[in-house]
Amino acid sequence: MLKKPAETMRDVHPLIRDRWSPRAMDASKPVSKDDLISVLEAARWTASSNNVQPWRFIVATADRPEAHAKALEGFNVRNQRWAKNAPVLIIVLARKVTDDGAANGPAHYDTGAAVAQLVIQATALGLSVHQAGGIDKDKIRTSYNVPDDTDILVAFGLGYQADASVLPDDLAEREKTPRARKSLSDIVFNDTYGEKMMF
Ligand SMILES: Cc1cc2nc3c(=O)[nH]c(=O)nc-3n(C[C@H](O)[C@H](O)[C@H](O)COP(=O)(O)O)c2cc1C
Repeated sequence: MLKKPAETMRDVHPLIRDRWSPRAMDASKPVSKDDLISVLEAARWTASSNNVQPWRFIVATADRPEAHAKALEGFNVRNQRWAKNAPVLIIVLARKVTDDGAANGPAHYDTGAAVAQLVIQATALGLSVHQAGGIDKDKIRTSYNVPDDTDILVAFGLGYQADASVLPDDLAEREKTPRARKSLSDIVFNDTYGEKMMF
């Protein structure tokens, strides 16, 4: 199976080094209930501002074909081409208010952190995640009756990586694209914003 380990200046944990976002997923290999619960637990135990825990997840598994098809409809057409093979589809939402009804500014930040934890746990279990910002939020809001105090952020496919040949040709080609990142000097500053820290 295609691997794309991160090239780093110093060692990082193998789960971080080896995680990447394949679009090719094995539609014939379900994710066990235990593993699904594990990844959701990893998200649940994320730190959040005032422990508000704003993250919400809508989970659809391929063993419930109608539910899976409904979640797939939430992806835009481009993303549906790969997401259909993912045995688990998850829509990520962030509740913008606390249980007391006060505005919760860090809701998006905390929810992103929860997804990051989920992704690392998935990697530890040999699973892959591919996230998609390309979703139809209006459709999701209507079809799942999402309340106004909750933002729809992203959706993702969870499953076992498959050979790129399961993808349409253009996506199979993109699967081979090297992973790239800005350098640390571009994103880490010293005394003033923009003053690059040199490594
Ligand atoms: C919030 C978010 C939105 C994304 N949206 C899409 C998307 O709509 N379609 C897609 O094919 N990939 C999408 N991706 C995948 C990114 O393109 C991918 O994570 C990025 O290129 C880095 O690659 P890596 O995850 O393999 O390191 C998204 C990733 C994130 C985190």
